[in-house]
Amino acid sequence: MKIILDCDPGHDDALAIMLALASPELEVLGITVTYGNVGLENTLNNALKIRELCGSSVPIYAGVPLPMIAERISAEFVHGRSGLDGPVLPEPTRGAETTRAVDFIIETVMQHPNEVTICPVGPMTNLALAMRLEPKIVPLIQQIVLMGGSTGLGNWSPAAEFNILCDPHAAKIVFDSPVPTTMFGLNVTHQALALPQHIQAICQNGNKTSLVAAELLEFFKLAYQKRYGYAGPALHDPCVIAYLLRPDLFKLEYLHVDVDCALTPSFGRTVVDVYQVTKHQANTHVALEVDADAYFALIAERLAQLP
Ligand code: RIB
Ligand code: CA
Repeated sequence: MKIILDCDPGHDDALAIMLALASPELEVLGITVTYGNVGLENTLNNALKIRELCGSSVPIYAGVPLPMIAERISAEFVHGRSGLDGPVLPEPTRGAETTRAVDFIIETVMQHPNEVTICPVGPMTNLALAMRLEPKIVPLIQQIVLMGGSTGLGNWSPAAEFNILCDPHAAKIVFDSPVPTTMFGLNVTHQALALPQHIQAICQNGNKTSLVAAELLEFFKLAYQKRYGYAGPALHDPCVIAYLLRPDLFKLEYLHVDVDCALTPSFGRTVVDVYQVTKHQANTHVALEVDADAYFALIAERLAQLP
């Protein structure tokens, strides 16, 4: 399976990158980086660091630094100032490609029609702009599998999840498109808490990448303990990659999803017709449940394959 991973590293993004690079079932054509958890300069540097840690030569592309219309928000509260606080990682020795992420997405989909899965796990500005800059790619994207939104409450406003709230207009372009789309929202990612036994299992692999992943999770959990009283952090972004590898770990329903772009307290909410009370045609496979223990066993097993 050919994929493009669009991310804003970010602790959970970093584990999504590791899981993707550790899985031979996936051909990672490129990693595109967006602003999000922190500014683009840091999210890009973090992606370069994680690539190097994983011993990979996958190309990395810098995306856009700002949302389309909304004011930029960021999540230093969760990820620290660098966006990847916790472990000390060496500065990358290789930089990003000169091609811009939006152009890479367009070129890659045109080169591989109906073969590319695009995996946004941050704000969706890069993907939305690619769709707008070259509408021809829309019918040629095989599928979109994203982390964002929720069937329930938000985590950055009472109504909106962070990735969607960063750029609701971009998210609406994506959900309104005819591309087959699968959504992993907070309603399912908060079922996947990295509990002490899960972090310990990763640590016991003993390889450098697993030890860094465990350190990242130890830092990531601080915000979840403080805000939610959780015993571990919700491991959002790797759900997207795990689904590509083991769809059987998840329960999904085909539902209608819209994005609220009105300037009200619900700005950025994913409005999911869970009870199908409207006449709207379903447009998204929405994840509702995950087998959390099997999810973390998959992550530990795959991360052991890395340097
Ligand atoms: O709300 C969780 C999402 O926001 C995750 O993708 C996390 O990395 C942040 O981007
Ligand atoms: Ca993310």
